[in-house]
Amino acid sequence: MNPEGPLTVFTPGIGAVSTTLMAGVELVRAGKRQPIGSLTQMGAIRLGKRTENRSPLISDLVPLAPLAGLRFAGWDIFGGTAYDAAKKAGVLNRDDLEMTRPFLQSIEVMPAVFEQNYVKRLRPKVVKKTKSKMEAAEELREDIRRTMRKNSSRQGVMVWCGSTEVFTEESEVHSSLRNFEKGLAKNDPRIAPSMIYAYAALKEGIPFANGAPNLTVDIPAMTELAKKQKLPIAGKDFKTGQTLLKTVLAPMLKARMLGLDGWFSTNILGNQDGEVLDESGSFKTKEVSKLSVLEHILQPHLYPDLYSDFYHKVRINYYPPRGDDKESWDNIDIFGWLGYPMQIKVNFLCKDSILAAPVLLDLILFLDLAHRAGLSGIQEWLSFYFKSPMCAPELYPEHDLFIQLTKLKNHLRYLVGEELITHLGIEYYEEEVKGRQTRRGSSLK
Ligand SMILES: NC(=O)c1ccc[n+]([C@@H]2O[C@H](COP(=O)([O-])OP(=O)(O)OC[C@H]3O[C@@H](n4cnc5c(N)ncnc54)[C@H](O)[C@@H]3O)[C@@H](O)[C@H]2O)c1
Repeated sequence: MNPEGPLTVFTPGIGAVSTTLMAGVELVRAGKRQPIGSLTQMGAIRLGKRTENRSPLISDLVPLAPLAGLRFAGWDIFGGTAYDAAKKAGVLNRDDLEMTRPFLQSIEVMPAVFEQNYVKRLRPKVVKKTKSKMEAAEELREDIRRTMRKNSSRQGVMVWCGSTEVFTEESEVHSSLRNFEKGLAKNDPRIAPSMIYAYAALKEGIPFANGAPNLTVDIPAMTELAKKQKLPIAGKDFKTGQTLLKTVLAPMLKARMLGLDGWFSTNILGNQDGEVLDESGSFKTKEVSKLSVLEHILQPHLYPDLYSDFYHKVRINYYPPRGDDKESWDNIDIFGWLGYPMQIKVNFLCKDSILAAPVLLDLILFLDLAHRAGLSGIQEWLSFYFKSPMCAPELYPEHDLFIQLTKLKNHLRYLVGEELITHLGIEYYEEEVKGRQTRRGSSLK
């Protein structure tokens, strides 16, 4: 299960999030900055009973690929280098950008598989010219093989960091691998570019995760392929800002049986992602992803008096002066004892890609770990990182951030054969158990 040699990270989309990650990894491995926000780099995990005082770093518990071994490559429609993309994104300050310039300039940006219908706001400069979607997949596969050879890499991971594609619903062509492959050959318009990347990755033995809300791997054809190839997949839509807060606050309301009348969420955002989301088709994809969380967390069918009738609205407004500095406002109308109304106001002044980069890093390392540990198909334990977590068709997704974290940590314990933690804790108070333990002179198990 130990990592062997370099890990090649493929990102379709060399934009704000991916270049902020790439530059950040280079600065961290040079010892110039700290990997703040990354659970794999900074997080600890409790093992055994609280009396045992065993809390190693996650990176000491499971064999994660070292940052020193990460290699990056990707595709984009604008050509140029990752340095050009990082400069345009305007996330990093001049010092950080200049310190990482040679590294970013060395990262290969390959011509993209792109379809204008799926991202209407961007005009491509460098795209593959192929006759069919199957041919496009073949070219991506060749890019992957060549890059892996160049890096002498046996392990790879791909994460979609491309723009949010227009809203599409699952249909027949997505329903099985057979139908999907027929669709690729026949240029079926319902197959989005992001799906072609996912197909190419899985065919080449590379796990895939989706950082955007488009369907991509969240279709039966891809779960079938992932299972067949024994590869882990995960998605979708990085959970980073407003939704991160929502999945902490909503469980609090439910935990205390406080009611909800309405939740109005609005954002201003001025980066390229904001520009893409200003178009109605791409916004619809994001809106569906952002709206789904409250319904699942609050469970109106279980608590009709508290949650059967709340109004939930999400808006994203493109506002260029702010660049990557997204600002979100939430107005939450709640009610308490005897139905008396109250309000909560949240104003988060965040940096979109600064929040997303560590999420991307953790996903890369955990997906690679899952691959080496022989896990395949949907990795629900990675829900922690997503706004619309993928899960088995018969399940509803788990959105509560702290349940997601508990699930993730228990999964790591399970992978290394450590006892799972239930938080029951009754044994600490049972006199008989205590007495026995004192006589033996050992700590509680
Ligand atoms: N906090 C966050 O930043 C955050 C949170 C959740 C989701 N996301 C999603 O992550 C994705 C990346 O965000 P970003 O801020 O880096 O956006 P960005 O616009 O800076 O970068 C996306 C890049 O993808 C490229 N692209 C579009 N279609 C492509 C294709 N078919 N092949 C290859 N490249 C393609 C674009 O040219 C662009 O350079 C977006 O979909 C965004 O919605 C971001």
